[in-house]
Amino acid sequence: MRIHHVGIAVRHLEGAAERFAALGLPLAGTETVDAEGVRIAFLRAGDVNLELLEAIRPDSPIARFLGRRGEGVHHIAFATDDIAASIRTARSLGFDVLDEAPRVGHGGRKVAFIHPRSAHGVLLELVQDLG
Ligand code: CO
Repeated sequence: MRIHHVGIAVRHLEGAAERFAALGLPLAGTETVDAEGVRIAFLRAGDVNLELLEAIRPDSPIARFLGRRGEGVHHIAFATDDIAASIRTARSLGFDVLDEAPRVGHGGRKVAFIHPRSAHGVLLELVQDLG
């Protein structure tokens, strides 16, 4: 697997995106994932992306994260060609996969999350890129 993106929780998406863009990471696009209660911006960092996440509702997971921890690294996402197989493998290894079946994430991609308590304190995301 390779790293697909690193998710960073931010309070203000536009300001954060402009700041990273000024540093040399071009903005690849923004979108709202209503089911997750977030607005996201993708910035290109070579073959990897930064995913900036801003809460759009006070009860969204990102809002709770910001309230608890403030801005910062939220998750690391790994690309997989076969997310169902990756979920099965992770489960068999004792990772606490939060999704029984993949959910639809950013850009319509299939994603699944692994709880940080089973991954050395880091929330992990599995992403199957559109084929
Ligand atoms: Co992500």
